[in-house]
Amino acid sequence: MPELNLILLGPPGSGKGTQGERLQEDFEYPYYATGDILRAAVKDGTEVGKAAKEFMDRGDLVPDEVIIGIIAERLQSGEADHGFILDGFPRTVPQAEALDAELLKLGRQLTAVILIDVDDDEIVNRLSGRRVCQEKGHVYHVEYSPPEKEGICDVDGSELYIRDDDKPEVVRHRLEQYHDKTSPLVDYYKKQGLLNTLDGADDPDRVSEKIRTLVSTLSLEEGR
Ligand code: AP5
Repeated sequence: MPELNLILLGPPGSGKGTQGERLQEDFEYPYYATGDILRAAVKDGTEVGKAAKEFMDRGDLVPDEVIIGIIAERLQSGEADHGFILDGFPRTVPQAEALDAELLKLGRQLTAVILIDVDDDEIVNRLSGRRVCQEKGHVYHVEYSPPEKEGICDVDGSELYIRDDDKPEVVRHRLEQYHDKTSPLVDYYKKQGLLNTLDGADDPDRVSEKIRTLVSTLSLEEGR
């Protein structure tokens, strides 16, 4: 497979995790979701987890230096030499600049940024119904994508829970953080000619279909 270096960008609850999981199954590139990495660190009680927890509980962004280190380590490890899918990183302009610098050092560049666009009212609706599995973080929605058995993950049978940061007041703060600190990345990547915007309000299968078509086209172009 040709090297594809992809970013999934979008507000909280836009479907990055849902689509990232499907993309990973279809294209087999390493998938790095910084929210999942941080939640695992909190669960394991690591130093990074201890440092990140209070920011995450409030719906604030974790400091840039913590998160940049996490991604730089993975890019330098060699496991992403043939491409990667980033979900939830970068989330600030300094993070985007650090990623550009890291890729430049490795003689590489981004292939595309996929913006999943969803409005704030729909986000609040989605996050109030989200359920996540304890074991591997598989994502459900009580109405839009319910599990076969209520409260239980279809994939691994573990219990589903409600994320602490899905409380309505925290969701509103996360949205403010997105508009303030992350949305400038839309222009940042537009200027670089990397931005591909999709309507994330469509149903999940339709969004997946559009992403799959885009990634297949990029794959053909890179393979030439
Ligand atoms: P993170 O876990 O990355 O949270 P997020 O970006 O806010 O994104 P979410 O996981 O909430 O949503 P999603 O877009 O993945 O949507 P999902 O597919 O689950 O980060 C958590 C925290 O970690 C941050 O607040 C911050 O503190 C910290 N952090 C992480 N990265 C950081 C960074 N780079 N810098 C600093 N701090 C960082 O879908 C949501 C729901 O909608 C689900 O129920 C799903 O079933 C449903 N759904 C999905 N698609 C559709 C659809 N098309 N139609 C209807 N329902 C849908």
